[in-house]
Amino acid sequence: MAKPILLSTPHIGDRELEFVQEAFDTNWIAPVGPHVDAFEQEFCEVVGASHAAALSSGTAALHLALQLTGIQRGDEVFCSTLTFIASASPITYLGAKPVFIDSDRTTWNMNPELLRETLDKKAKIGKLPKAVILVHLYGQSADINPILEACNHYEIPLIEDAAESLGATYKGKSPGTFGRIGIFSFNGNKIITTSGGGMLVSEDPKIVEKARFLATQARDQAPHYQHTEIGYNYRLSNVLAGIGRGQLRVLEDRVNARRNNFAVYQQALGNLPGIEFMPEAEFGRSTRWLTCLTINPEAFGADREQVRLTLSKEQIEARPVWKPLHLQPVFSGCEYFGGTVAEELFNHGLCLPSGSNLTREDLDRVSKVILEIHQQVKH
Ligand SMILES: Cc1ncc(COP(=O)(O)O)c(C=O)c1O
Repeated sequence: MAKPILLSTPHIGDRELEFVQEAFDTNWIAPVGPHVDAFEQEFCEVVGASHAAALSSGTAALHLALQLTGIQRGDEVFCSTLTFIASASPITYLGAKPVFIDSDRTTWNMNPELLRETLDKKAKIGKLPKAVILVHLYGQSADINPILEACNHYEIPLIEDAAESLGATYKGKSPGTFGRIGIFSFNGNKIITTSGGGMLVSEDPKIVEKARFLATQARDQAPHYQHTEIGYNYRLSNVLAGIGRGQLRVLEDRVNARRNNFAVYQQALGNLPGIEFMPEAEFGRSTRWLTCLTINPEAFGADREQVRLTLSKEQIEARPVWKPLHLQPVFSGCEYFGGTVAEELFNHGLCLPSGSNLTREDLDRVSKVILEIHQQVKH
């Protein structure tokens, strides 16, 4: 049987084990230690942030980001609809209500004009959201400036979910560093990984200090265990931070490899009728964390699911683009603003295997299956 080709798997470099060994040698096997501190510092240097807290996941980082923004029960929080559920589930952890916003076609991310219009509408009825969560999807930054302007106009804090976009740029800077708080993920499928982990960044040192406090059970400064607030067990392990330090050193290589995957797929499949690749917006660099395309079934001759299932039969893992959150049963009662952009991207969108460790043969095998589907339906 053919070797399976998976969507996006960990790709470990040369230094990770060395850092992990150091954690073992020094017995820093705990959610605290020198690797955690160094990982935070090195991460800040890489993304151009001032302060960072290393956490157990991106979801935990978003949960803390919302809490540190003062989100309370009953508050509304706007969120991009085209994303993974973890962008919005922390809103519900706090008893707040997600309101979903559609994408634009050029970035696949939150539509800035739609956000502005919706904020205007909400302002008129005196129901402005308490925060906006802006997701940077599949390695591509959203169009941050007009979104930030709209938020600033109404003094609404912007939280950036850059879980999928470490290594990307927006006008030369890293997405995740523009809003009040940004979050990143080091889940196993991300561009770099700590197996599981996350980072919260902010320009405000008080926010990051409070994130660390809440992430370590909100322990007050006292020799005994004293608590005046409820916290969480959300810190990153020192062992995993060691993996993160090694991974940070190969981030640029990983971006280049994923961009190269995209280029190879585009060259092989870009001229097929009905196939359109996710555009790269002119304002920055997409990491192409995942190579995504849409398939117009009439023009191509087969639909997204037919292509995905055929790939699957060949041991190739491809996935539909995220199902928009406003269409998720769990969010059926939530408000939504927009049209059908995200829905169409979901209906027709496919993510191809995109790991930085794929070989040229792997990429060619994927392309060949898709080319063959088209050849067969043509006859
Ligand atoms: C857009 C987005 N937000 C948040 C998360 C949550 O990150 P984590 O898995 O580290 O909790 C992920 C991925 O897992 C994601 O893709």
